[in-house]
Amino acid sequence: MSTLFSPITLRGLTLSNRIMVSPMCQYSAEDGSATDWHFTHINSLALSGAAMFCIEATHVEATGRITPGCLGLYSDANEAALKPILASLRKHSKTAIAMQLAHAGRKASSARPWDGGQLLPLEKGGWQTEAPSAVPHKEGESAPHAIDDAGLKRVRDAFVAATRRAERLGIDAIELHGAHGYLLHQFLSPIANKRTDQYGGSLENRMRYPLEVFDAVRAAFPDRKPVGVRVSATDWVEGGWDLPQTIEFARALKTRGVDWIDVSSGGVSPLQKIPLGPGYQVPLAQAVKQATGVTTMAVGLITEAKQAEDIVASGKADMVTLARGMLYDPRWGWHAAAELGGEVGAPPQYWRSQPSTQKALFGATSFGAR
Ligand SMILES: Cc1cc2nc3c(=O)[nH]c(=O)nc-3n(C[C@H](O)[C@H](O)[C@H](O)COP(=O)(O)O)c2cc1C
Repeated sequence: MSTLFSPITLRGLTLSNRIMVSPMCQYSAEDGSATDWHFTHINSLALSGAAMFCIEATHVEATGRITPGCLGLYSDANEAALKPILASLRKHSKTAIAMQLAHAGRKASSARPWDGGQLLPLEKGGWQTEAPSAVPHKEGESAPHAIDDAGLKRVRDAFVAATRRAERLGIDAIELHGAHGYLLHQFLSPIANKRTDQYGGSLENRMRYPLEVFDAVRAAFPDRKPVGVRVSATDWVEGGWDLPQTIEFARALKTRGVDWIDVSSGGVSPLQKIPLGPGYQVPLAQAVKQATGVTTMAVGLITEAKQAEDIVASGKADMVTLARGMLYDPRWGWHAAAELGGEVGAPPQYWRSQPSTQKALFGATSFGAR
């Protein structure tokens, strides 16, 4: 029996396996609205065999977008653009749909990766960014504005408004983006947060704003639907955010009803030194799970079925989430199920692809011809 292909329940949502398609920005939106590319991308990966697909970082304000091409959910037009895509997905796939809600803070106003990914100046279509403190991400870059109290309220309200739109769209779960050096992570990390008010200084103060946003999102989303948080468990920089602080943050989230912690790392400082290798972030997920008992997702260079099976079967994490591996092999979940003796849902149009040695791969299917 495969553990990877055994069910897991997140609040009122039961998933048939423990695989999520990790959120992946496509930099292909127009004014925050999804385009035909999203139709292709989302519908393709909704057939990966993963029980949950997480929509890319979806920004709650236009100025919170990483790039001018990033997805948003701050306008009626943004909401309307996602509707037909989700309707198509629901018609052809049983995958649960999560959405990652995000604000890029000082890492907003960047060029798309294929245009170099650097800070976009105002004269090239960029905009003034905001962050916990007026400290640029990279030395030599123009500084963000430090968010004042009114700004904190505005951004928190924007998270709530986007949550309500997500609910209207029928999204099954929300993941708050608290990782990769974006706004909520900037509050957590002493590298980006130099505030002297109640939102800066001590760990308790640095956690305050992300926890307020979590509470506000949690309260705005139906009780039966799960809300998770993606964290960077360490900045990989001496004196930065680290695993013991992440564990405290996870504990605080647990008391507030978080449904999962998706454990990533890095992103707040160009000085980070990341020890890349297969499953390199799994020990971080394992430590969070062991210390807090919170449901965890492991992510990062998980590419092989047996590797994923080992992570969940050994209890290092409760779920795995894959990004690049899914782009490379958009039927990753099917292939993993075939290798591990699991079962995945597939649309009837594709049933005939079932290998002759894997008659139970798609469950009870039957088809005929004359
Ligand atoms: C094209 C691309 C876009 C990404 N966009 C996001 C994003 O929107 N939100 C996020 O939290 N991580 C994002 N990531 C990071 C992935 O979700 C994942 O954490 C990372 O790629 C490591 O997993 P992998 O080794 O399976 O690719 C992105 C990664 C890629 C390759």
